[in-house]
Amino acid sequence: MTSQVAVEKKKLEQPPLKIHYLGDRVLRQPAKRINHVDNEVRQLVREMLQTMYSADGIGLAAPQVAVNKQLIVIDCEPENPAAPPFVLINAVIKSFSRDVCTDKEGCLSIPGVYMEVVRPELIEVAYKDEQGRPRTLKATGLLSRAIQHEMDHLNGVLFVDRVENSLALTEELRKQGFSPQAVNPIP
Ligand code: NI
Repeated sequence: MTSQVAVEKKKLEQPPLKIHYLGDRVLRQPAKRINHVDNEVRQLVREMLQTMYSADGIGLAAPQVAVNKQLIVIDCEPENPAAPPFVLINAVIKSFSRDVCTDKEGCLSIPGVYMEVVRPELIEVAYKDEQGRPRTLKATGLLSRAIQHEMDHLNGVLFVDRVENSLALTEELRKQGFSPQAVNPIP
């Protein structure tokens, strides 16, 4: 399914892309739609996957590597060489459940910070794959959470913006050397 962008799931000493951290403006810019899914996009997908696996992540959005495009890669089974990663281009959430669930999240752009976030449990998302083919996907559990987290990145939103316990968040951010001022709480 994703053979054209398949990369080995391993850590590289020199990952191809640099991940930007909380406080960096590139994380706050809305990403643009991709008009043509071409070889250049597929090469970016490969490099994002390699960078994600190198950082022990399960998801990465293009703005995190300073690319202003609506492109997401996700792999909830990074230890399973047979499981293909998800590549979501121009993703749109078509529907989400009224039921919500709470779980801890982290982000490669905010290393060391893990906090609980409330999100809809089930989503249906429409997107293009790495061949430019339109697809839809119903997701629940970790995959649903990962997609919602990465789609937030495309709108310049970070998971810390959604954390309700701001006192605990401030403490965690300071512990990891991040400024609580870099958070834009969602009203
Ligand atoms: Ni993230």
